[in-house]
Amino acid sequence: MDDDPAHLDILEAILGSDHDVSAVTGGEEALLFVQTERPHIILLDILMPGLNGYEVCRRLKALPETADIPVIFVTSRDADEDEARGLEYGAQDYITKPFCPAVVRARVRNHLLLAEQRERLEKSISLLEHEKELLQQKAELGIQAGGLAHDMANILTVLEVLRYIPRERPGTDEEWADVLAAVDMSVESMDVGAGICKGFTSYLRNVGEPAEDCSLSDLLQVLGMYRKRYKGALTQHVQPAMPPVRCKAWQVRRVFVNLFTNAMQAVEQAASPEIALRLWHDAQGAHFSITDNGAGILPEHLPRIFEESFTTKPAGTGLGLYMARQIMDSHGGTITVDSQPGKGTTFTLTFPVHGNTV
Ligand SMILES: Nc1ncnc2c1ncn2[C@@H]1O[C@H](COP(=O)(O)OP(=O)(O)O)[C@@H](O)[C@H]1O
Ligand SMILES: [Mg+2]
Repeated sequence: MDDDPAHLDILEAILGSDHDVSAVTGGEEALLFVQTERPHIILLDILMPGLNGYEVCRRLKALPETADIPVIFVTSRDADEDEARGLEYGAQDYITKPFCPAVVRARVRNHLLLAEQRERLEKSISLLEHEKELLQQKAELGIQAGGLAHDMANILTVLEVLRYIPRERPGTDEEWADVLAAVDMSVESMDVGAGICKGFTSYLRNVGEPAEDCSLSDLLQVLGMYRKRYKGALTQHVQPAMPPVRCKAWQVRRVFVNLFTNAMQAVEQAASPEIALRLWHDAQGAHFSITDNGAGILPEHLPRIFEESFTTKPAGTGLGLYMARQIMDSHGGTITVDSQPGKGTTFTLTFPVHGNTV
């Protein structure tokens, strides 16, 4: 794109054998040509009739569809044209008249190569982002499926108990109490499972459980039925004015249930079982902790408890803490453990909190 036909001819002669060259005179014509033909590279003279080269370059760089086409300014060594100014307008490079064929060819080739590489890079970046998104979706699906598996295991355990209760009316009140407790347990498990199922199915419908502002102490109410089954001492401290936590409610309930059932199992053999629940907040976020005075975790087990399928229980699934950690990760939070064999265990959850406290 040049105002001087002689220069155009020379450039065409230099580049014509390796490239498909089109020549246009005038700024408006140049813009029109680029819009319709989308060349791979543009050699632009600064002095042209109508719009000058700077203005053409500025307009091309302002449009997303032409911004990435490399522009090389053509300047005269003797003219008072400013190469730096061309570069400020977004041009990639410049060549000077009179032309040195080797330089012209090299510059054009290099910038074509660069543009091609950038395009390839952008493609692979967007591919990577897509893959990352898929991985996140997969992880969420895994959490939900893990929840279902956990509930199924709970329900099965309860049903196994029911199975062995005699078909005829059990003899003693104690036996009846066992049956009722077992039924309560399976109903509760079913209830949690049904909630998770809802999240699961709506997720598959590509909706997913929405993250909402939740009160952690409200979510803790999911433990109601489990608390009834627990025979030991239970204390609960909630700091006033807890900030709401943005979370997927059923996933967080799931974490509470998993931690509570673990604590209940841990204190089964304790002389005087104790479980303490705490909710508090500080600059780091909102925290929940559960402390039991159970058997504790052996130092050699401690690094493994969050692994998928790690369990020390004969009928354990080893999924509870694995899921808890995935859920906390996906909420941008953390789960930590502090345990002393023979004394007990504390699990602490930390949720990020945004905005003001309520
Ligand atoms: N409160 C606790 N006290 C002692 N050990 C615990 C406690 N919570 C978890 N653990 C240990 O971590 C392991 C993994 O827990 P989890 O992932 O919930 O699977 P599961 O309960 O099916 O074994 C348990 O088998 C147990 O050894
Ligand atoms: Mg468990």
